[in-house]
Amino acid sequence: MAEKFLNLVGGKWVPAKSGEFFENRNPANWEELIGLFPKSGPEDVDAAVGAAKEAFRSWRLVPAPKRAEIIVRAGEILRARKEELARDMTREMGKVIAETRGDVQEAIDCAYFAAGEGRRLYGDTTPSELPDKMALSIRCPIGVAALITPWNFPMAIPSWKAFPALVAGNTIVLKPATETPLSSYHLFRVLEEAGMPPGVVNLVTGGGSSCGQPLAEHRDVGVVSFTGSSAVGKLLAQATGQSLKRLSLELGGKNAQVVMDDADIDLAIEGALWGAFGTTGQRCTATSRLILHRPIAAEFTRRLVAAAGQIAIGNGLDAGVQMGPTVSEKQRQTVHDYVEIGRKEGAKLLLGGASLTEGPHANGWFHQPTIFGDVTPGMRIAQEEIFGPVLSILTVDSFEEAIAVLNDTVYGLSSSIYTRDVNRAMRAIRDIEAGITYINGPTIGAEVHLPFGGVKETGNGHREASHTVLDIFTEWKSVYIDYSGRLQRAQIDNY
Ligand code: UN1
Repeated sequence: MAEKFLNLVGGKWVPAKSGEFFENRNPANWEELIGLFPKSGPEDVDAAVGAAKEAFRSWRLVPAPKRAEIIVRAGEILRARKEELARDMTREMGKVIAETRGDVQEAIDCAYFAAGEGRRLYGDTTPSELPDKMALSIRCPIGVAALITPWNFPMAIPSWKAFPALVAGNTIVLKPATETPLSSYHLFRVLEEAGMPPGVVNLVTGGGSSCGQPLAEHRDVGVVSFTGSSAVGKLLAQATGQSLKRLSLELGGKNAQVVMDDADIDLAIEGALWGAFGTTGQRCTATSRLILHRPIAAEFTRRLVAAAGQIAIGNGLDAGVQMGPTVSEKQRQTVHDYVEIGRKEGAKLLLGGASLTEGPHANGWFHQPTIFGDVTPGMRIAQEEIFGPVLSILTVDSFEEAIAVLNDTVYGLSSSIYTRDVNRAMRAIRDIEAGITYINGPTIGAEVHLPFGGVKETGNGHREASHTVLDIFTEWKSVYIDYSGRLQRAQIDNY
């Protein structure tokens, strides 16, 4: 019988009130049942939010450096357990062990970075226009933060939301994706062990409509932070718009790598392979378009296709495997559908295009690395997020056209250009419409101390990570301290 996991509500590990569970299976081998997780509903969400609201009363009064000490301890525990956490993450999500180690490392980085904010959380002090009066601004916690997270970074993304939210003095309720509840379970055990008081951190697992939506809409939730698809992001924006609560959205991408004729071609091929097929293409930052300058396009494509055809696909725990399965049947079906769409649109299938269903791949959601050539900007495979190992190649005649094609999408998360011409690089930094631009590096690989997020339909103006994440999880309060002992009317008595 598979192990049954529980929700964490108000410091107690409890089943869903319905008593129901859902299965978590290994996408590289669906016969392996990893565990059963609570199928939570609105009543479980209500209990978790209630516990978080109650805990907020005292947590907000704990000095921020003290709150941060607990996060440092959590970082240390994560560091000590990195290997076992990474192995479990590969089992539930499928990406290769080197990458799941990276995912845990990103959580550790977040812990130390967010903990540092416990001794900063800087506000401003500024002169008042009136005599004997002081003016300053401080950051205040918002209250209960609802965190709704995807499956592709099962520990990094919950961490980069949770740690700064907690250091800033909020209490949290996390609803992780149903594909990857185990990593969140581990994270909350770690937070508990690190010394989080009961009710400060709450975990409820379950589906989007039964659990995520009631959480986002709950009247006692002050801020919602969501990472996922633009379609769900728009629904959440409507749902939370009624109450005007703060909503931070980190949504889709259609990230492109540009390669100019003056680029280091070997480097650019390596970058494209990693950007497109790392994490089986399942990053919001994944390279899903390659924009090639015509003079190098044919040779570049030939070499890229040859190299991508060599990628070793299998169980991410096996030595030598470079690419794991897609996360689920549904995800592989999406990839399959887009391969069909690309074919029908007249793009040329240069590599892959099929599921892998034999031998070592028989019981997993594997799909070949897939490359389409002759893609034109208007095609759906050049416009829509696929979230799988599918790369669309477009060819352009100039730098200006490359930038125009790159920008020709509703998304704007990550971007990259390979060039040795410093003038082109500088213009690209200026003209690309995206939250992240890499020069001579692939579109993936953001570090936790720089702002993370995007423009256009990738988000709604917020930036996670960095100190900018504090603008999501705090409210500014302006404070005026008058020590003149008399009424001073601003804008009037001093003019
Ligand atoms: C994501 O895909 O949602 O920049 C996050 C990167 C990683 C984070 C990706 N550090 O690729």
